[in-house]
Amino acid sequence: MRAVKIKLGKRSYDVVIGHDLFTAAASFLQKGDYSKKALLVTDSTVNRLYADKLADALREAGFALAKIVVPSGEEAKSLAWAEKIYDTAIEGKLDRQSPFIALGGGVPGDLTGFAAATYMRGVPFIQIPTTLLAQVDASVGGKVAVNHPAGKNMIGAFHQPDAVFADLASLQSLSPRDYASGLAEIVKTACLEGGGRLDFLAEQAGRIEERDEEVLSSLVAGACAYKAKIVEDDERETGVRMFLNLGHTYGHAIETEGGFSLYTHGEAVSIGLRGALLLSGEFASLAPQVTTKVSALLEKFHLPLKASGIDPERAYQALWHDKKAVDEKLRWVLLKKPGDALISKDIPLLKVREVLAGLVENGKH
Ligand SMILES: NC(=O)c1ccc[n+]([C@@H]2O[C@H](COP(=O)([O-])OP(=O)(O)OC[C@H]3O[C@@H](n4cnc5c(N)ncnc54)[C@H](O)[C@@H]3O)[C@@H](O)[C@H]2O)c1
Ligand SMILES: [Zn+2]
Repeated sequence: MRAVKIKLGKRSYDVVIGHDLFTAAASFLQKGDYSKKALLVTDSTVNRLYADKLADALREAGFALAKIVVPSGEEAKSLAWAEKIYDTAIEGKLDRQSPFIALGGGVPGDLTGFAAATYMRGVPFIQIPTTLLAQVDASVGGKVAVNHPAGKNMIGAFHQPDAVFADLASLQSLSPRDYASGLAEIVKTACLEGGGRLDFLAEQAGRIEERDEEVLSSLVAGACAYKAKIVEDDERETGVRMFLNLGHTYGHAIETEGGFSLYTHGEAVSIGLRGALLLSGEFASLAPQVTTKVSALLEKFHLPLKASGIDPERAYQALWHDKKAVDEKLRWVLLKKPGDALISKDIPLLKVREVLAGLVENGKH
């Protein structure tokens, strides 16, 4: 068991990484200043796999549990499901000290966090991420949200969890597609981190594919430690935290245009990352070899470099719903070299369209 500390003054917390962490999570809550009525939110797949085990540990620790199971997939990240969480919390008479516990991937995490940020103006929140994507990215940093039909994460808040418990054993049951999705955020982080992280991923690709626990533990701890530094510097994303959105401008547009189902978040980030690097080649002097190296890595991890079944014009329009757009200007995260990013507002729209056209084909999926 290891822990990465996120240092945010009174809102500091640990990301605990290890095995069989359900009991550890229950005992953390038992020792804390929480009311004994808790709410567990999970999705239908994770419910089948892990919820009973966690519920047993929580009951043994003296908690009365209200539970809500949302559908598996992005559709659950909606205001309608947030409302159902409020209803369940109200019916169960949950109070201001009641912990909301998210068990699952980034979807239950973002949704539960959003509900926790708003129920009674904010209640405690615990993350138990069970996807690689959620363990290396979504569960850490306190960005919580639901989607609006017009765009991803349009309705949200900042609400830090009290603790994160990343159980590595749960990663073994992920589908190859969901596992690869998490690797996309890991590659993104490696681009931002520099210092040989991309080479490390290439060298360890075999062990990563086998889901070797030692390498997984170092990937999760490494990504959380990197994210911790950024979040500690810029909790509310007014500066350096924006860099974490590398690949997400095109990525969100592709994810949205695919109806949140054609491409997973990680797959869309993979395609978007390639787009951002292509723009970086022209506008931030990124060496083309870096783009080639990153593309090869993404391919090795079975991630797409192009989207099909997406209309380029609609995807272009979707870019404008990006939360980074300010004053009708798109803001791009570009890479000068691994470990060195910048924000640019001055990319000619013609170029934006041209690169996008190369990323998406209007054919069938
Ligand atoms: N808040 C943030 O900072 C942040 C950062 C990155 C991504 N996100 C969000 O995270 C979401 C994507 O996260 P995700 O990929 O974890 O999505 P997800 O929660 O939909 O999980 C993906 C799939 O894996 C299944 N699953 C979960 N755990 C499993 C397990 N252990 N074994 C088998 N199947 C399992 C789920 O049922 C689902 O079908 C997106 O909505 C994205 O916007 C948020
Ligand atoms: Zn992401």
